[in-house]
Amino acid sequence: MRPLLSVFGILAACCLQRDPAQGQAGPHIPDSARAWWKEAVIYQIYPRSFKDSDGDGIGDLRGIISRLDYLQSLGIDAVWLNPIYASPNDDNGYDVSDYRSIMKEFGTMADFDELLKGLHARGIRLIMDLVVNHSSDEHQWFKQSRSSRNNPYRDYYHWWNAEDGKPPYRYSLFDINHDAWMYDSLTDAYYLHYFSRKQPDLNWENPKVRREVYDIMKFWADKGIDGFRLDAFQFAAKDTTFPEFPKGFEKDFTRYYAMQGNLHGYLREMNREVFSPYGIMGVAEGAGDTLEDAHNLVDAHRKELNMAYAFDGTNIFKPVGPRLLRLKEAFDRLDSSFGSSGWLAVYLANHDMSRLVSRMGNDRPAYRELSSKMLTTLVMTRRGTPFYYNGDELGMTNAGFTSIGEFRDVPTLDAYRREQKKGGDLRKFLQKIQFESRDNARTPFQWDGTAQAGFTTAIPWIRVNPNYTAINAAAQQNDPGSCLNYFRQLVKLRKQNEVLVYGNYTLRDRSNPRVYAFTREIKDHRMLVLLNFSAAAARVRPGVQTGRAKLLLTNYPSAPVSRPGEKEFSLRPYEACIYSL
Ligand code: NOJ
Repeated sequence: MRPLLSVFGILAACCLQRDPAQGQAGPHIPDSARAWWKEAVIYQIYPRSFKDSDGDGIGDLRGIISRLDYLQSLGIDAVWLNPIYASPNDDNGYDVSDYRSIMKEFGTMADFDELLKGLHARGIRLIMDLVVNHSSDEHQWFKQSRSSRNNPYRDYYHWWNAEDGKPPYRYSLFDINHDAWMYDSLTDAYYLHYFSRKQPDLNWENPKVRREVYDIMKFWADKGIDGFRLDAFQFAAKDTTFPEFPKGFEKDFTRYYAMQGNLHGYLREMNREVFSPYGIMGVAEGAGDTLEDAHNLVDAHRKELNMAYAFDGTNIFKPVGPRLLRLKEAFDRLDSSFGSSGWLAVYLANHDMSRLVSRMGNDRPAYRELSSKMLTTLVMTRRGTPFYYNGDELGMTNAGFTSIGEFRDVPTLDAYRREQKKGGDLRKFLQKIQFESRDNARTPFQWDGTAQAGFTTAIPWIRVNPNYTAINAAAQQNDPGSCLNYFRQLVKLRKQNEVLVYGNYTLRDRSNPRVYAFTREIKDHRMLVLLNFSAAAARVRPGVQTGRAKLLLTNYPSAPVSRPGEKEFSLRPYEACIYSL
């Protein structure tokens, strides 16, 4: 659908600058409770698919450099880059073979330095991905470690000698047989890998490993980066006696894998060594199994990390009816627990999930833009730090792959092979991955309507979504009603209203099966957010005084149906409205 030219969008944008309720600075928030990483909007770049500068079909650092002005135009405060270190790319960079050099396909260290400088010059911080639950099996440490039982690097990884019998079963998320112990005939022993066989788990119980990691972190911190996102770190510490786990534990593996042993001790050590002295931010992927786990990671007095992202809610597809109720409950539970201490990231999408609008909204032409904007509204108005995935600001959709040959993700391909082996229904399986595979979110960024969406001049490493001719940044740039400009307005709104950052969150009309409604408030400043998650008109009872409500933003090109003051508001399909009360 051609984006509607939104007069209202322009009005709303003007409104953003004029509304006296805007930009209420915070006498209410003490300086000690403030932090840049709480107030920031963090934009995630998947470098492999963002922009190719040298015509090899793979995105790279110079590609990102060429789009710095675009990043600045978004109004975001920080960029989180997926791993850019040297890697054989068994898992697209999450298998690092040298933590101090740049992946060949992505460029050079000089490119990195220029990128960092360019971001900082535009007031944008940089957060690096730190992948140290495991390394690549091609890392020097592992090459040494596997070479003999008495090699000094042997204890950098977890080994189980074959003469001790078969090791107690451990589930691997990515191994084709899901067995996390891989037999290595060279030394007649098994090594542990929670992810792929090419991602052996590092032994965090070994102080030498920890020292190596802190040195690596300092190497990047010395360059001036602003934070680390700790990949899968909740699994890093292990009970190295490897007790038997109950049968079927893998259905609930986080309970058995997360927060084991001295994980918190290691994080405090990391904080003392790196985070505190350098004043940089740490965010964990995964927040354990319980709210207590999550608090133990991020509560300020513990001096471990600044925030974590919990997975709760993001696996609820097409949330309407009972699924919307579950989604609201999940977010409500997190918010109530983190209202007075700790801090969480807020996100609905990343490179490990299918595209936001296809998964949680509606990517049919009539609703794609509306539902995409509605979901973006949720990310930008909840309490916590928004992490926003590149391409979602354009309303990019699932890839539309039609054959297994178009997929690139190893776990997706392995799952297909497993299905094939067991004689399963491959047509049905293909449908499942067409909807769910993380490759859906990894197709090239759609810059413009030229060949390969302006991403590359070559054949891209993964196929471009054919809808790029209609959905692309160039087409949206000057359209005030586009997803892109709506995103920019939302970022601005959040930054000008600290009630959206620090304000208390209260769920409204809890049992409404179509509408997600909540208020945010600090003292006398209150905002009301109404989100219709369904493709039908819906009604909502906010249960607050709305007589003086002032509309700040809507995703529709015309004014809402209901008037302020009404007890019940009517919302159009996928409508999102933000009011100042
Ligand atoms: C989480 C990352 O986000 C994912 O992409 C990766 O495959 C695993 N960790 C293993 O590193």
